[in-house]
Amino acid sequence: MAKSRVSYVCGACGAESSKWAGQCADCGAWNTLSEVVAASAPKGRFAGYAGETAAQVVRLPEVESSEESRTPTGLPELDRVLGGGLVGGSVTLIGGDPGIGKSTILLQTLARLSARMPILYVSGEESRQQVSLRARRLGLGDADLGLLTETCVERMLAVARQERPKVMAVDSIQTVFTEQLQSAPGSVSQVRESAAQLVQFAKREGIALFLVGHVTKEGTLAGPRVLEHMVDTVLYFEGDAGNRYRVIRAIKNRFGAVNELGVFAMTEKGLKEVSNPSAIFLSRHAEPVAGSVILVTREGSRPMLVEVQALVDESHLANPRRVTLGLEQNRLAMLLAVLHRHGGIAMYDQDVFVNVVGGVRVSETGADLPVLAAILSSFRDRPLPTDLVVFGEVGLAGEIRPVPNGLERLHEAAKHGFRRAVVPEANAPKKGSLEGMEVVRVRRLREALEQMQ
Ligand code: TYD
Ligand code: MG
Repeated sequence: MAKSRVSYVCGACGAESSKWAGQCADCGAWNTLSEVVAASAPKGRFAGYAGETAAQVVRLPEVESSEESRTPTGLPELDRVLGGGLVGGSVTLIGGDPGIGKSTILLQTLARLSARMPILYVSGEESRQQVSLRARRLGLGDADLGLLTETCVERMLAVARQERPKVMAVDSIQTVFTEQLQSAPGSVSQVRESAAQLVQFAKREGIALFLVGHVTKEGTLAGPRVLEHMVDTVLYFEGDAGNRYRVIRAIKNRFGAVNELGVFAMTEKGLKEVSNPSAIFLSRHAEPVAGSVILVTREGSRPMLVEVQALVDESHLANPRRVTLGLEQNRLAMLLAVLHRHGGIAMYDQDVFVNVVGGVRVSETGADLPVLAAILSSFRDRPLPTDLVVFGEVGLAGEIRPVPNGLERLHEAAKHGFRRAVVPEANAPKKGSLEGMEVVRVRRLREALEQMQ
């Protein structure tokens, strides 16, 4: 193999230099240069296309559309986040904290698939014994799975060319290195370069490829998002390893919808699917407690009942604390400002903590009104009824705005025995009740606050 040239690229501005330096000469950012393999410069303007005839322009309707064939993985919750099954030639990145269950779900999926097609599982983290022990523990000890312990991407690809698997998994991409670079495995350039080689191989051979990526302390996949644009699908494990439930979310999917959730429970026999997760994130209190509100959120394509808890406490800090878990922090600051201006309730001398129970992340605006309701309930130390659900977006002008699929959310709440709902006007049914549940419609924040005294 020809010795390739190594150069350094600034992660902030993209400037290239031949030598490493602590500061980028172009944009002045510190510590942003990282090593990359420089592609050998093509000679002449079209040298890159040597030997190829010029590509043809095709009219869109003339492009033959072949439905991509999907292979069910055997885990319907995983199929759901993948957009209906595994697509040949697609690359899926599975990210998450260490110990959350990435290797477990991969092994469970591959073992199931191995009955139907050749599989290659490449582990750079665990020995063969460890993998086989885990497989036995999962009751999958005799799955016909090709197992390889290897960290060099060139050798990995050489084996894959011989084995011709239909599905291949690399666990984890941070342990993989390419011979073309001198930097340590796990560095941005190694991760990017090795992943690029694997992706190219998978696309060319039509192999469905899984890459496992650890999330760094800062919450990004190592190498600031370098992998996300290279792959077709990005699945993230949410929540923490201390919780029994594991939520997988699609944050990018070229073959399906994003924000789709798959819910699993970690048991001593691996990950078990939770096919009706709608109410698992509720902690049913025997007595009504202040600061707790049930919200109906809609993640992906199904509604879910989730409990929001708030704690408001007198602050002794110059800058009172605003802490959120499972929600966006800036959104809380905004909601508190709206509460002050349009509800007349000031929180500038109070610490405010908001938590979504169960480690699930709520990324939609339907949580606005419930969050304010929980904050107010805690502030006044006055519990809200336990059979009440709330959802709705709060606008900067103090208006309560509708959220998508209001009726579907209300049906879900009614199904779980809730008797009262406070919702945006446009989301409520005309007659003011639904399946025996009283639905109160609100237009302004003040109205909503009056309803939730
Ligand atoms: P793992 O898949 O190794 O995590 P990752 O690859 O994301 O780092 O998950 C390991 C955790 O799951 C570990 O803490 C033990 C637990 N676990 C179970 O509770 N039951 C099981 O059957 C298995 C295989 C693991
Ligand atoms: Mg692992």
